[in-house]
This record gives sequence, structure tokens and C-alpha cells, in this order.
Amino acid sequence: MVSSHPAGLPGRGEFSYGVATASYQVEGAIGADGRTPSIWDTFTQVPGAIRDGSDGATACDSYHRVEEDLALVAGLGVDHYRFSLAWPRILPGGTLAAGVEARGLDYYDRLVDGLLERGISPMPTLYHWDLPQVLEDDGGWLNRDTGRHLADLARVVHDRLGDRVGMWATLNEPYCSAYLGYAAGIHAPGRVLGTGAHVAAHHLLLGHAWAAEALRDAGARDVGIVLNLAPVWPERPEAAEVADGVDAIRNRVWLGPLTDGAYDDGLLAVAPELRDPDVVRDGDLAAVRGSAEWIGINYYTPERPDLAAAGEPAGVPVYPGVEGLVMRPREPLTDIGWEVDARGLTQVLADTHARTGLPVLVCENGAAYHDTVVDGAVDDRARVDYLRDHLAAVTAAREAGVDVRGYVAWTLLDNFEWAEGYTQTFGIVHVDRQTRNRIPKASYHWYATHVGERG
Ligand code: FCB
Repeated sequence: MVSSHPAGLPGRGEFSYGVATASYQVEGAIGADGRTPSIWDTFTQVPGAIRDGSDGATACDSYHRVEEDLALVAGLGVDHYRFSLAWPRILPGGTLAAGVEARGLDYYDRLVDGLLERGISPMPTLYHWDLPQVLEDDGGWLNRDTGRHLADLARVVHDRLGDRVGMWATLNEPYCSAYLGYAAGIHAPGRVLGTGAHVAAHHLLLGHAWAAEALRDAGARDVGIVLNLAPVWPERPEAAEVADGVDAIRNRVWLGPLTDGAYDDGLLAVAPELRDPDVVRDGDLAAVRGSAEWIGINYYTPERPDLAAAGEPAGVPVYPGVEGLVMRPREPLTDIGWEVDARGLTQVLADTHARTGLPVLVCENGAAYHDTVVDGAVDDRARVDYLRDHLAAVTAAREAGVDVRGYVAWTLLDNFEWAEGYTQTFGIVHVDRQTRNRIPKASYHWYATHVGERG
């Protein structure tokens, strides 16, 4: 019997701490209990798709190590645990019509109960990129019906977990799903469609809106969306136009419909697909408007667009249609090549709250650094510095009056980092790749202390 009551979105002036994972990155057990392949199971088998040729077949084996992972989350003293639900575990045929897999739901049921028993509130995300492959075979996010199926998933999950979940996120980073997945082909499903990916972006927004509506109809409160919005810092005045294209695809394609129920002219200039009335149908944008009660922001790095110099190779596939674009990140960089600048976090929180009027939460923030285990310990000072500086950036935003309700660190465990495989470690807990043994790093202990002192 679970007595603890799950916390929803913190109230104005309140602040929640958390830590995050995502299903495909940690669970493993890809064939267990009726789960079917996701697009990542397919994509990881494509030669050259993943930097180290690895996959998520075992990952951190979190499917079989729930108790161990719960103890690690509890040891941090955090208020929320952010995790995602593996669609192919719950609807193995992709759709409700193809049947619900109760054993898949059982896993999340145990996880949610285990959190509540420890006084931690669940913060589930419905979709963190592991689309059932059967739906991709029908077009994936290029197919409008995929959004309807996401709404069905929301209903099924709410039926089982809704009595013990206080807040929900629909999508994680639809920018990556659409543009890394369908424009650049560097994430699953690996399609290289350039500006054709805008169709996927629109369908992801619809899926969000329909899933949010399904959750609310079922009685859920505090339904939001998690976006990897970025501050866009053009290198020089001549870069203003390419910077506008980057801002349009990274930020405004989501915030425009959510806030105004419209795609703006600057976006439509680089994304003519969104003018097509067969894609963007009557009523679509009105359904998206107002569909999020809070915005989750995943922040790692700013974007520094520039106009390519004469003769310099130009064009950035994850920003399709922005002619002449190059990116010029500045040092210091983390191991994955992402510029470190905590001021960007203060700015993106302030800008997003000003733009939407909604409460904002940091739903992911963290750093990839190579670690070494010495005498059974990991002294990851660079990661501690990164977390400390970014938490200070959140405090700066709050002191400036921005309605920030929480901070969720990415990530609990060293895990399967998508196209980077296991070459990039973001965890505050080290995971041995052979034994899957977990060793909390210095950053884990630092974060636990920070949370314990409430910042
Ligand atoms: C984000 C993803 C998350 C993880 C971090 C490093 O884009 O949401 O799963 O890969 O980056």
C-alpha cells in the first residue's frame, strides 16, 4: 500500500530538484515481457550509425535493477525522478487496437510505487524517442496517425498509473525527433529528408496536443512538454538572417503554436512545408495552442550561428533549408563538443517564460566528460563545476523574477548516448560496461549535498 502523495508541478515560489533517465538509454531488456523493437533497435544495427557500433540491448540493465536504481535516486534526496515510458513495452503493436502489454505496464507500476515509497514523485515522459518500429514502417512521425496513437498510449498509461502521478510530460525534445531523425538522419529512424522533416515536427506537435488532451480528459493535471530550446547568439551582424532560421527551427516552431497557435512568417520562409494545407489542417494549430501548462527546458549549450565565409562548406543538416549556415562553438567544450556557457541557461529560462507566460523547469542539464575510476571512486570535478555553475544560473534567473519551478540533472547513470553509443558519459553514477556495477561519482555526492541544503 502506497501512502505517499505524488507532487505535481511545484507551486509558484516553490522549487523541485530531480534527476532524469530515458527508457531506451538505460533499460536494456529489449526482448523482455513482450516488448517489440523500437526505431532505435533498428537504427543501431545500421553499420556506422552508432559511433562505437553499440546498441541499447542491455544498456544499464535498469529493467532488472529497479531496486538498485531506486536506492541511488533516493540517496540524492531529490523530489522528482524524471523517466520515460517505452512505447513498445506498453503497446507492442504500436496501436491500442493491436493490444496492451500488461507486463510492460507492470514494470512502470513497480517503479512508481518504489519512488512513492521513498518519498520521491514520478515525473514520467510519454515519449523519449523509442517509437515502435511497426509505426515507423507506416511512416512514423511523417504519418499524422502516429500522434493519435500517442494519445492512445497516454490513455493506457494514465489508466494504470494516473492515480500515482502528479505531473506529466508528453514529448522529450521533438526538435531531435524531427530534425536529427528525419532531416539529418543522425538519429533513428535515420531518414535524410531535409526540409521534409518539418512535416514530422508538425505531427509531433499534434501528438503532444492530443496526448495532453487525453491525459486531461482522464483527470490528469500539470501536463507539459519538454523542449531543447537554445539561446541563439549570432557571431556578427551579417549572421542575423541565418540566426533567425536557427531560432525558427530550434525554438519558434514549438513556441509559436503552443503560445499563439501559429507558425510565424520567418519560420514559414525556411519551412514552406508548413504552408501546405494538407499538412497543417484547419484546427491543428488551435489544438496546440495552450496545450502545455508548463515548459520543460533541456539546456546544454548555446548556438552560435554564422554566415559561412567564401569557399567554406556551409549548411547544417539539423537546420534544413538555412542556406549558408555554419556553427562556431567557442571553448571550453565538453567531450561531446558542446560549448559550456551557463549564461545561456539564465537567458533561455527568462526568454521562454517571457514568451509563453508559463512556468518553466529545467528538465535536463549536465555534461559529458571522460571519467576514470581510481580506487573504486570517480573524482569528476569538471562535471561538478558544470552543475554548480548551471545551478547558479538557475538561481540568477529566479532572482530576476523568472518563474522557474525546478531543476532536473541529466543524468543518473552513464548510459547509451544515442548516436554516440557509450563513448560519452553524462552520468553522476558510473556504470561499469561489463558488470553494470554502479559507482556514485563525486558529482553525485556534490548534488546530494546541494539538494540537501536546498541550494
Ligand atoms: C538530450 C536527450 C537525452 C540525452 C542528453 C545528453 O538531447 O534528451 O536523452 O541524450 O541530450
